Amino acid sequence: MRDQRSFLKNVIKKGITGLVVGVFLVGVTRALAFPPVFQVMFFTYAMLGAAVFLLLDAPSLQPMSGTKALVALLAFYVVISGVYIGGASLWPQYDPEDEKGKIEKLLKAKRAATEQGKAEELLARTKALSEKADAIMQRLQAVGGAALARFPTGADGGIPSGASPAASGDLVALGKEQWKLQECYNCHKLSGQGGKKRGPEMDNIGNLMTPQELRQKVLDPRSWMAEGFEKEYEKKKMPDKYKDLMEDKEIDELVAFLSTLKNPSVNTPKAIKKK
Ligand code: HEC
Repeated sequence: MRDQRSFLKNVIKKGITGLVVGVFLVGVTRALAFPPVFQVMFFTYAMLGAAVFLLLDAPSLQPMSGTKALVALLAFYVVISGVYIGGASLWPQYDPEDEKGKIEKLLKAKRAATEQGKAEELLARTKALSEKADAIMQRLQAVGGAALARFPTGADGGIPSGASPAASGDLVALGKEQWKLQECYNCHKLSGQGGKKRGPEMDNIGNLMTPQELRQKVLDPRSWMAEGFEKEYEKKKMPDKYKDLMEDKEIDELVAFLSTLKNPSVNTPKAIKKK
């Protein structure tokens, strides 16, 4: 009787100790962010430990012998095996096929997403490109149509390149482009603009030089000299490079533009034939 009472006390003591250790372990594993399964496992270990110590302290059984002992041993074996197998089967099972299935499911969704994404992106790009092509075709038709209407023979056969005057096939407008492109304005004032390096003002040149003469001057600056610009002429201020830089057609355009400059209120100097 005394034995039984002290055993009960022992059960309570060891049980409480096991619980405290178990809760402590759960706290630690949780703080270390272990998965819940491990937290349960550590708690179970603590309780198992308590059980082992309880068994060690358990009052010894009556000595047994013969068949009784054999049956008791077998029964003990069956119970222990049952507990082990049953307990083990309670844990979450790891099945590789299961995991493979899960991964495949994830990948499938992802693959589908990317393939669909790619297809959609390609479609969008194709659409944008064809819209652009349509817009360009429309513009070409509009511009090309206008140019053809003005020059039924095809004029200079220039390829329309947009809404700039150059595209209209207007020779004078093209010549003005050349004036800017070749930077004649660097030395020649026109409409009060440009001419930092002081060549003659150009506003009235159309009244003073024929297209043929203008052509000569541009191709060979030594051919003509502006009156009053002897020093500049001697110093060869006007560059002798346009015959290399400009195509024949471009010189035609430039000359056409210069020929329209007929403003007598500006004092453009006369040109003197030099060679
Ligand atoms: C670096 C300066 C400079 C540049 C650039 C220049 N010229 Fe001149 N140009 C002169 C000077 C200086 C004279 C006057 C001396 C002479 O006749 O050579 C002159 C004279 C002329 C004359 C004769 C004017 C007159 O009244 O007799 C014409 C025409 C002319 N330039 C056209 C052009 C054209 C067109 C361009 C662009 C393709 C051009 N020049 C670029 C400096 C320049």
